[in-house]
Amino acid sequence: MGSQSVSFAQKSLKGRTSYSEGRYTSVVNELFPPTHKLLPQINQIYELDLAWGEFRVLDEEALIRRGAYFRSVDGVDTHHYRICMRTPDQVNASSRQDRKNFFAANVFAVGYATHGLFPYRGKFHPQMVKAVLNIMGLKPGRTVFDPMAGCGTTGIEASIMGIDSVTNELSPFACLMTRAKVGALDVDVRRLRELRVKAQDIFDELSKTFCKAPRREHRLDFDQNHAHLPFDGEKGGGRSLARLPVALRELLKLCFLDSVGYAARRASKTPRALFPDVLGRYLDAAEAFNTTRQELGLRLGKCSVLQGDARSLKLSNDFADGILFSPPYSFAIDYLENDRPQLELLGVDADELKLGMVGLRGDGRNEAQRIEARLGEYFADMRLILHECCRVLRRGCYCTLIVGSNTNQTGGVTLEDRLVDIAKSEGFTLDFQIMREIEGIRNTMREEYLLFFKKS
Ligand SMILES: C[S@@+](CC[C@H](N)C(=O)[O-])C[C@H]1O[C@@H](n2cnc3c(N)ncnc32)[C@H](O)[C@@H]1O
Repeated sequence: MGSQSVSFAQKSLKGRTSYSEGRYTSVVNELFPPTHKLLPQINQIYELDLAWGEFRVLDEEALIRRGAYFRSVDGVDTHHYRICMRTPDQVNASSRQDRKNFFAANVFAVGYATHGLFPYRGKFHPQMVKAVLNIMGLKPGRTVFDPMAGCGTTGIEASIMGIDSVTNELSPFACLMTRAKVGALDVDVRRLRELRVKAQDIFDELSKTFCKAPRREHRLDFDQNHAHLPFDGEKGGGRSLARLPVALRELLKLCFLDSVGYAARRASKTPRALFPDVLGRYLDAAEAFNTTRQELGLRLGKCSVLQGDARSLKLSNDFADGILFSPPYSFAIDYLENDRPQLELLGVDADELKLGMVGLRGDGRNEAQRIEARLGEYFADMRLILHECCRVLRRGCYCTLIVGSNTNQTGGVTLEDRLVDIAKSEGFTLDFQIMREIEGIRNTMREEYLLFFKKS
């Protein structure tokens, strides 16, 4: 185990390696036998609920291999524990304190494996996804589908667990994130080390590749700050990068786009100056996971990344053994505005893409009319998506939908209630649900619902 990763986990855990050995264990001891130790940093009822769900459906060996909330079973450390304990530092020394606190308090929840590579807003908590996949009965050899995959959390977790997956997403940039993060789960550590010393050359080659014939007004100059850089798509490619395996090329591309976005947010530094740091973080994360993957002898699940509209899927009936997704919480986040610099670099017309984005359409002369129009479009889109989900899912399998109760922005309409009604009319029954309270003073949403539907 690398010294850096140990220090991040140990620093964060302050010597506490299991919830079950803490002081307030009465409920935990009632639920689980002394052979089953929970991970530390379990703070909410929903996490206990998910741990209990895993305990009921997985035997001991499966809990060690695929469990999300257990530290050890019968003295054997779980894979999740071992993967997370190696996670390198998630934040720079200069990061804000609340960011440092967040990662320190969530060692087993968010930034492990390749999940922390690009900060996509509104993504799933990966630890929760792992438990939900278990509770849905998914195991190696089965296929899970995520129709609105964002940066690919479902696909990454499924791969780590040996489950095959198909992800679908409208944004080409989000698809690139998924390809990079899934691909980086299976790379040769020696190749990663070679890249470490070539950061500036890689940056220069990528910047040339990305702007061979700039379409817009001026040539790229990565020694200057540009929030919106002209870009001519990926033509040809530099000679040494072209020789790299696809997974590494995708990783480097994402790293490049990350440093461009980062520089746009931090006026004081150029993408070129930031690239070595960002690359270092990417390589640390990939190396840590790949080293553990080899030690554990993990067989990764296959992930197919599709770009398309979830309202009309080009997928055959009944192919999926489970569906897990989180739609936009109505219009809580404008995914396209967030990613505009990267989309422009990729040569994507963000305004055209917006026409297909769920939650971003609908207008009116005043606020009330705008909300009504947007909600109308949102629920109509979600009906089409749930219809498609029902079509591609095998009978008797779970379709789990995670949605926040966004009443602040919807004028009091609770999204989860309407979505349950729509799902029922499209062929699902609601088997059970789990409520998650959202913490943090900066969150306007207070609750999130995990709705476990079954195709009836
Ligand atoms: C809440 S996010 C999903 C985040 C994802 N669970 C993750 O962990 O990254 C919702 C996603 O839906 C995508 N989306 C919106 N409209 C879509 C459509 N018509 N078809 C497919 N994806 C769409 C957005 O681009 C966004 O990435």
